[in-house]
Amino acid sequence: MAQRKVAIVTGASAGIGQATAVALARRGYAVVVSARRAEKLAEVADACRAAGSEGIVKVADVSDQAQVDELVNSTVSRLGRLDVMVNNAGYGLRARVHETSDEQMRAIFDVNFHGVFHGCRAAAPVMMRQRSGHIFNVSSVIGKRGSPFNGAYCATKFAVAGLTDSLRVEMMPYKVRVTCVCPALTRTEFFDAMHGATGRSGKTFARFRGLTDPQTVGRKIAATVGKNSPELVFTLGGKFLTILATLSPRLTDMLMKLYHDELVKDAGASE
Ligand SMILES: NC(=O)c1ccc[n+]([C@@H]2O[C@H](COP(=O)([O-])OP(=O)(O)OC[C@H]3O[C@@H](n4cnc5c(N)ncnc54)[C@H](OP(=O)(O)O)[C@@H]3O)[C@@H](O)[C@H]2O)c1
Repeated sequence: MAQRKVAIVTGASAGIGQATAVALARRGYAVVVSARRAEKLAEVADACRAAGSEGIVKVADVSDQAQVDELVNSTVSRLGRLDVMVNNAGYGLRARVHETSDEQMRAIFDVNFHGVFHGCRAAAPVMMRQRSGHIFNVSSVIGKRGSPFNGAYCATKFAVAGLTDSLRVEMMPYKVRVTCVCPALTRTEFFDAMHGATGRSGKTFARFRGLTDPQTVGRKIAATVGKNSPELVFTLGGKFLTILATLSPRLTDMLMKLYHDELVKDAGASE
């Protein structure tokens, strides 16, 4: 009998990670759901079971390589293989570049970039041995073009996109696929969980939240497994932005300035 295929999703206690875990379960994957909040993960594991597959909870903080190694090693010991690794955990920070502290910058890189790096470093050798597998690294549309009030966040997402391009080609001889996922504004807890400087909480920016629902992103990731898709860019606006940024950085700056002015007006900032 063929072995059941196995997936790990980080940041699976909410939003895009949760939706991706359930979408993979619907396609028959045994899914190991990982994040820091055990009680939320238990609900997601139940949803994976309700979708007709196995859901296993594994608490891990992605900023710690040892915890991510343990996540991957315990999955392979228990389930025998690893077919899909979704490095999704991350958070936002609203602050202009000059207002961003060293501590904030290091903290966001620890999770958004090193978390992805840790996941790649743990999963790649397993998949290379198997000569199969698919790694998804979640960046962002603004990991392809920076936007105001998001300097630190954008920097982490550009770093993820660069790492992912390198890894994709390195994995080709091993038949391991690697995809960079670039969601646009998606309706999740992201905006509530957002860290912010000078009183600009994510809620201030609420009207810019979610155009896409997380299920659309999750279903697309699950449907892309095994395909040669270097990147998934979501929404027409997201695709337009990435193309415009390449063709005309100056015009893109003008659009971004309109966005900047809206944010300043909304936040009641004096500058
Ligand atoms: N929503 C958007 O508009 C949007 C757009 C582009 C890209 N993205 C990216 O999509 C990914 C998922 O975001 P989301 O929108 O689904 O946000 P979300 O609803 O806030 O979910 C974030 C997830 O990351 C987990 N997480 C945060 N820090 C962690 C850590 N140190 N270790 C392990 N898990 C951690 C959280 O779980 P715990 O708190 O339980 O640990 C949660 O499950 C992020 O990388 C985000 O940057 C989101």
